[in-house]
Amino acid sequence: MIEITLNGKTRALDAAPDTPRLWALRDHLGLTGTKFGCGIAQCGACTVHLDGQPTRSCVTPVSAVGGRQVTTIEGLRSAPAKAVQAAWESLDVVQCGYCQSGQIMSAVALLSRNPHPTDKDIDDAMSGNICRCNTYARIRAAIKQASKALV
Ligand code: FES
Ligand code: FES
Repeated sequence: MIEITLNGKTRALDAAPDTPRLWALRDHLGLTGTKFGCGIAQCGACTVHLDGQPTRSCVTPVSAVGGRQVTTIEGLRSAPAKAVQAAWESLDVVQCGYCQSGQIMSAVALLSRNPHPTDKDIDDAMSGNICRCNTYARIRAAIKQASKALV
């Protein structure tokens, strides 16, 4: 049995230690908001936060989480998260939606550590999140709109 702190609660799961965190979240714990894209840490669809930092859950064993806090799209509650979600909705960012959980997790991590990012900050923070529907311009605009809502 492995215990992790997930979205503020301790959760136990019966999984092999080398189970990728993504499978632990989706298959063992039923949190399907985090998506599988490439499986090789190249697309960002599986992004979750580990102590607030965006990480790729497809390549990290669940046992490597240790005592750190895991946050998924289902557990976002902070002011930056609310600002991002409102901006995404207001600007109708989503197209097919597949990449968007990972995009939002990266955007929230950015605005949590830097509420007023420059274009370069946004590029640097979001460069690992691929969108096949090419929603990049709307993502950038939404991050800027969310930033304006933060003091
Ligand atoms: S599924 Fe993890 S980075 Fe693509
Ligand atoms: S919205 Fe379709 S892949 Fe990004």
